[in-house]
Amino acid sequence: MEKLQKMAVIGSGTMGHGISQVLAMSGYEVTMIDISDEILKKAMEKIKWSLQKFAEKRRIKPEDVETILSRIKTTTSVEEGVKDADFVIEAVPEKMDLKKQIFSKADKAAPKHAILATNTSSLSITEISEATERPDKVVGMHFFNPPQLMPLVEVIKGEHTSDETVNITVELAKKLGKTPVVCRKDTRGFIVNRILGAVFNEAFWAVYNKEVTMEEVDSAVKYKAGFPMGIFELADYVGLDVLYYVSKVMEEAFGDIAKPCPIVEPLVKEGKLGQKTGQGFYDWSKGRPRIPFHLADNFDIMRIYAVAVNEAARLIYDDVADPEDIDTAMKFGTGWPSGPCEIADREGIDVIVNKLKELYEKTGEARYKPCPLLEEYVSKNWLGRKTGRGFYKYG
Ligand SMILES: NC(=O)c1ccc[n+]([C@@H]2O[C@H](COP(=O)([O-])OP(=O)(O)OC[C@H]3O[C@@H](n4cnc5c(N)ncnc54)[C@H](O)[C@@H]3O)[C@@H](O)[C@H]2O)c1
Repeated sequence: MEKLQKMAVIGSGTMGHGISQVLAMSGYEVTMIDISDEILKKAMEKIKWSLQKFAEKRRIKPEDVETILSRIKTTTSVEEGVKDADFVIEAVPEKMDLKKQIFSKADKAAPKHAILATNTSSLSITEISEATERPDKVVGMHFFNPPQLMPLVEVIKGEHTSDETVNITVELAKKLGKTPVVCRKDTRGFIVNRILGAVFNEAFWAVYNKEVTMEEVDSAVKYKAGFPMGIFELADYVGLDVLYYVSKVMEEAFGDIAKPCPIVEPLVKEGKLGQKTGQGFYDWSKGRPRIPFHLADNFDIMRIYAVAVNEAARLIYDDVADPEDIDTAMKFGTGWPSGPCEIADREGIDVIVNKLKELYEKTGEARYKPCPLLEEYVSKNWLGRKTGRGFYKYG
């Protein structure tokens, strides 16, 4: 394909306005599409505010603010917005019917060569692609919030997506200054949310079963593992309604392995959705919760490592991604200091497997059953750094 020049972004909400801004900052002409001029005006104001912040922090020149803004046009018509686009990114609400409708419309109006990408977090790329006459040119391009700042983009290959489409999308992500990782299969949760889902569940069940408190879990996660946020803190930050919805999608896809913990639903029903409502697991009315340092020894952080590594192993076993991509995704998408495969090699794959077996014997829960890949590594004496071979080779 010729060089990409013109972009269209459908949806100008939390993600869409940020993605439009990132595209314009990299020199692309962008048409941002939404359902009303009022929404589009607000989105443009948010972009302007964000660009001014970038200028204050000297990440762009003050005179660039207007130049970047001038690259973004707006319209309320999908047909008009995509008609000369080389690449379209959809970021409308997470509803399959709506996405299919938008894709069918965009497919009819966009040039034949245009790639149609979706920023969906949980829906099937394959199913969305089937609403078009160009399923080979439909791809997942999953940005993280806020797109202006988060360095990771997951590029997801649907069943019909061509390698060329994946390659063009990877190159675009790089041009935007992002780090792309390819998710070779259209698996629910892709890479980051699959591993995070397992980790959330472990923390939720431990507290639900009254083994520990949420402060103890968060203290261990922050001060022992060095994660940027506690798990309950992150859940509140993401939004418990979003988490609840994603947990249902994961359960439908993976069954008992992803059985959601009943700790979240009552909070959602009470409207305690986390940071955005001022109350979730924590009280956010006075700002970010303070996580006490002195509780860090009260929770066994190996439990979090064990379920994260098990999920990473399942992704590799299912040929979704390689260890390098999984580790990159977790470090760039969530700010973990090490990825799960690096953690496993450091801690010892035998140690991880023993922890999973211990938890499985204690509870009989499917999520603790070690992935066959981990059992295979142990039988080959691929235990990590200490034997020179684990997920990676050493020496
Ligand atoms: N918010 C996040 O943290 C996040 C992160 C990654 C991916 N995502 C995904 O990105 C997508 C958008 O999420 P969001 O948080 O930006 O949602 P949002 O509700 O903030 O924004 C959606 C926008 O789409 C517009 N819209 C609705 N119907 C439309 C139509 N028919 N045509 C054009 N525009 C329409 C809405 O007016 C709104 O401005 C979802 O698929 C979500 O799963 C969200």
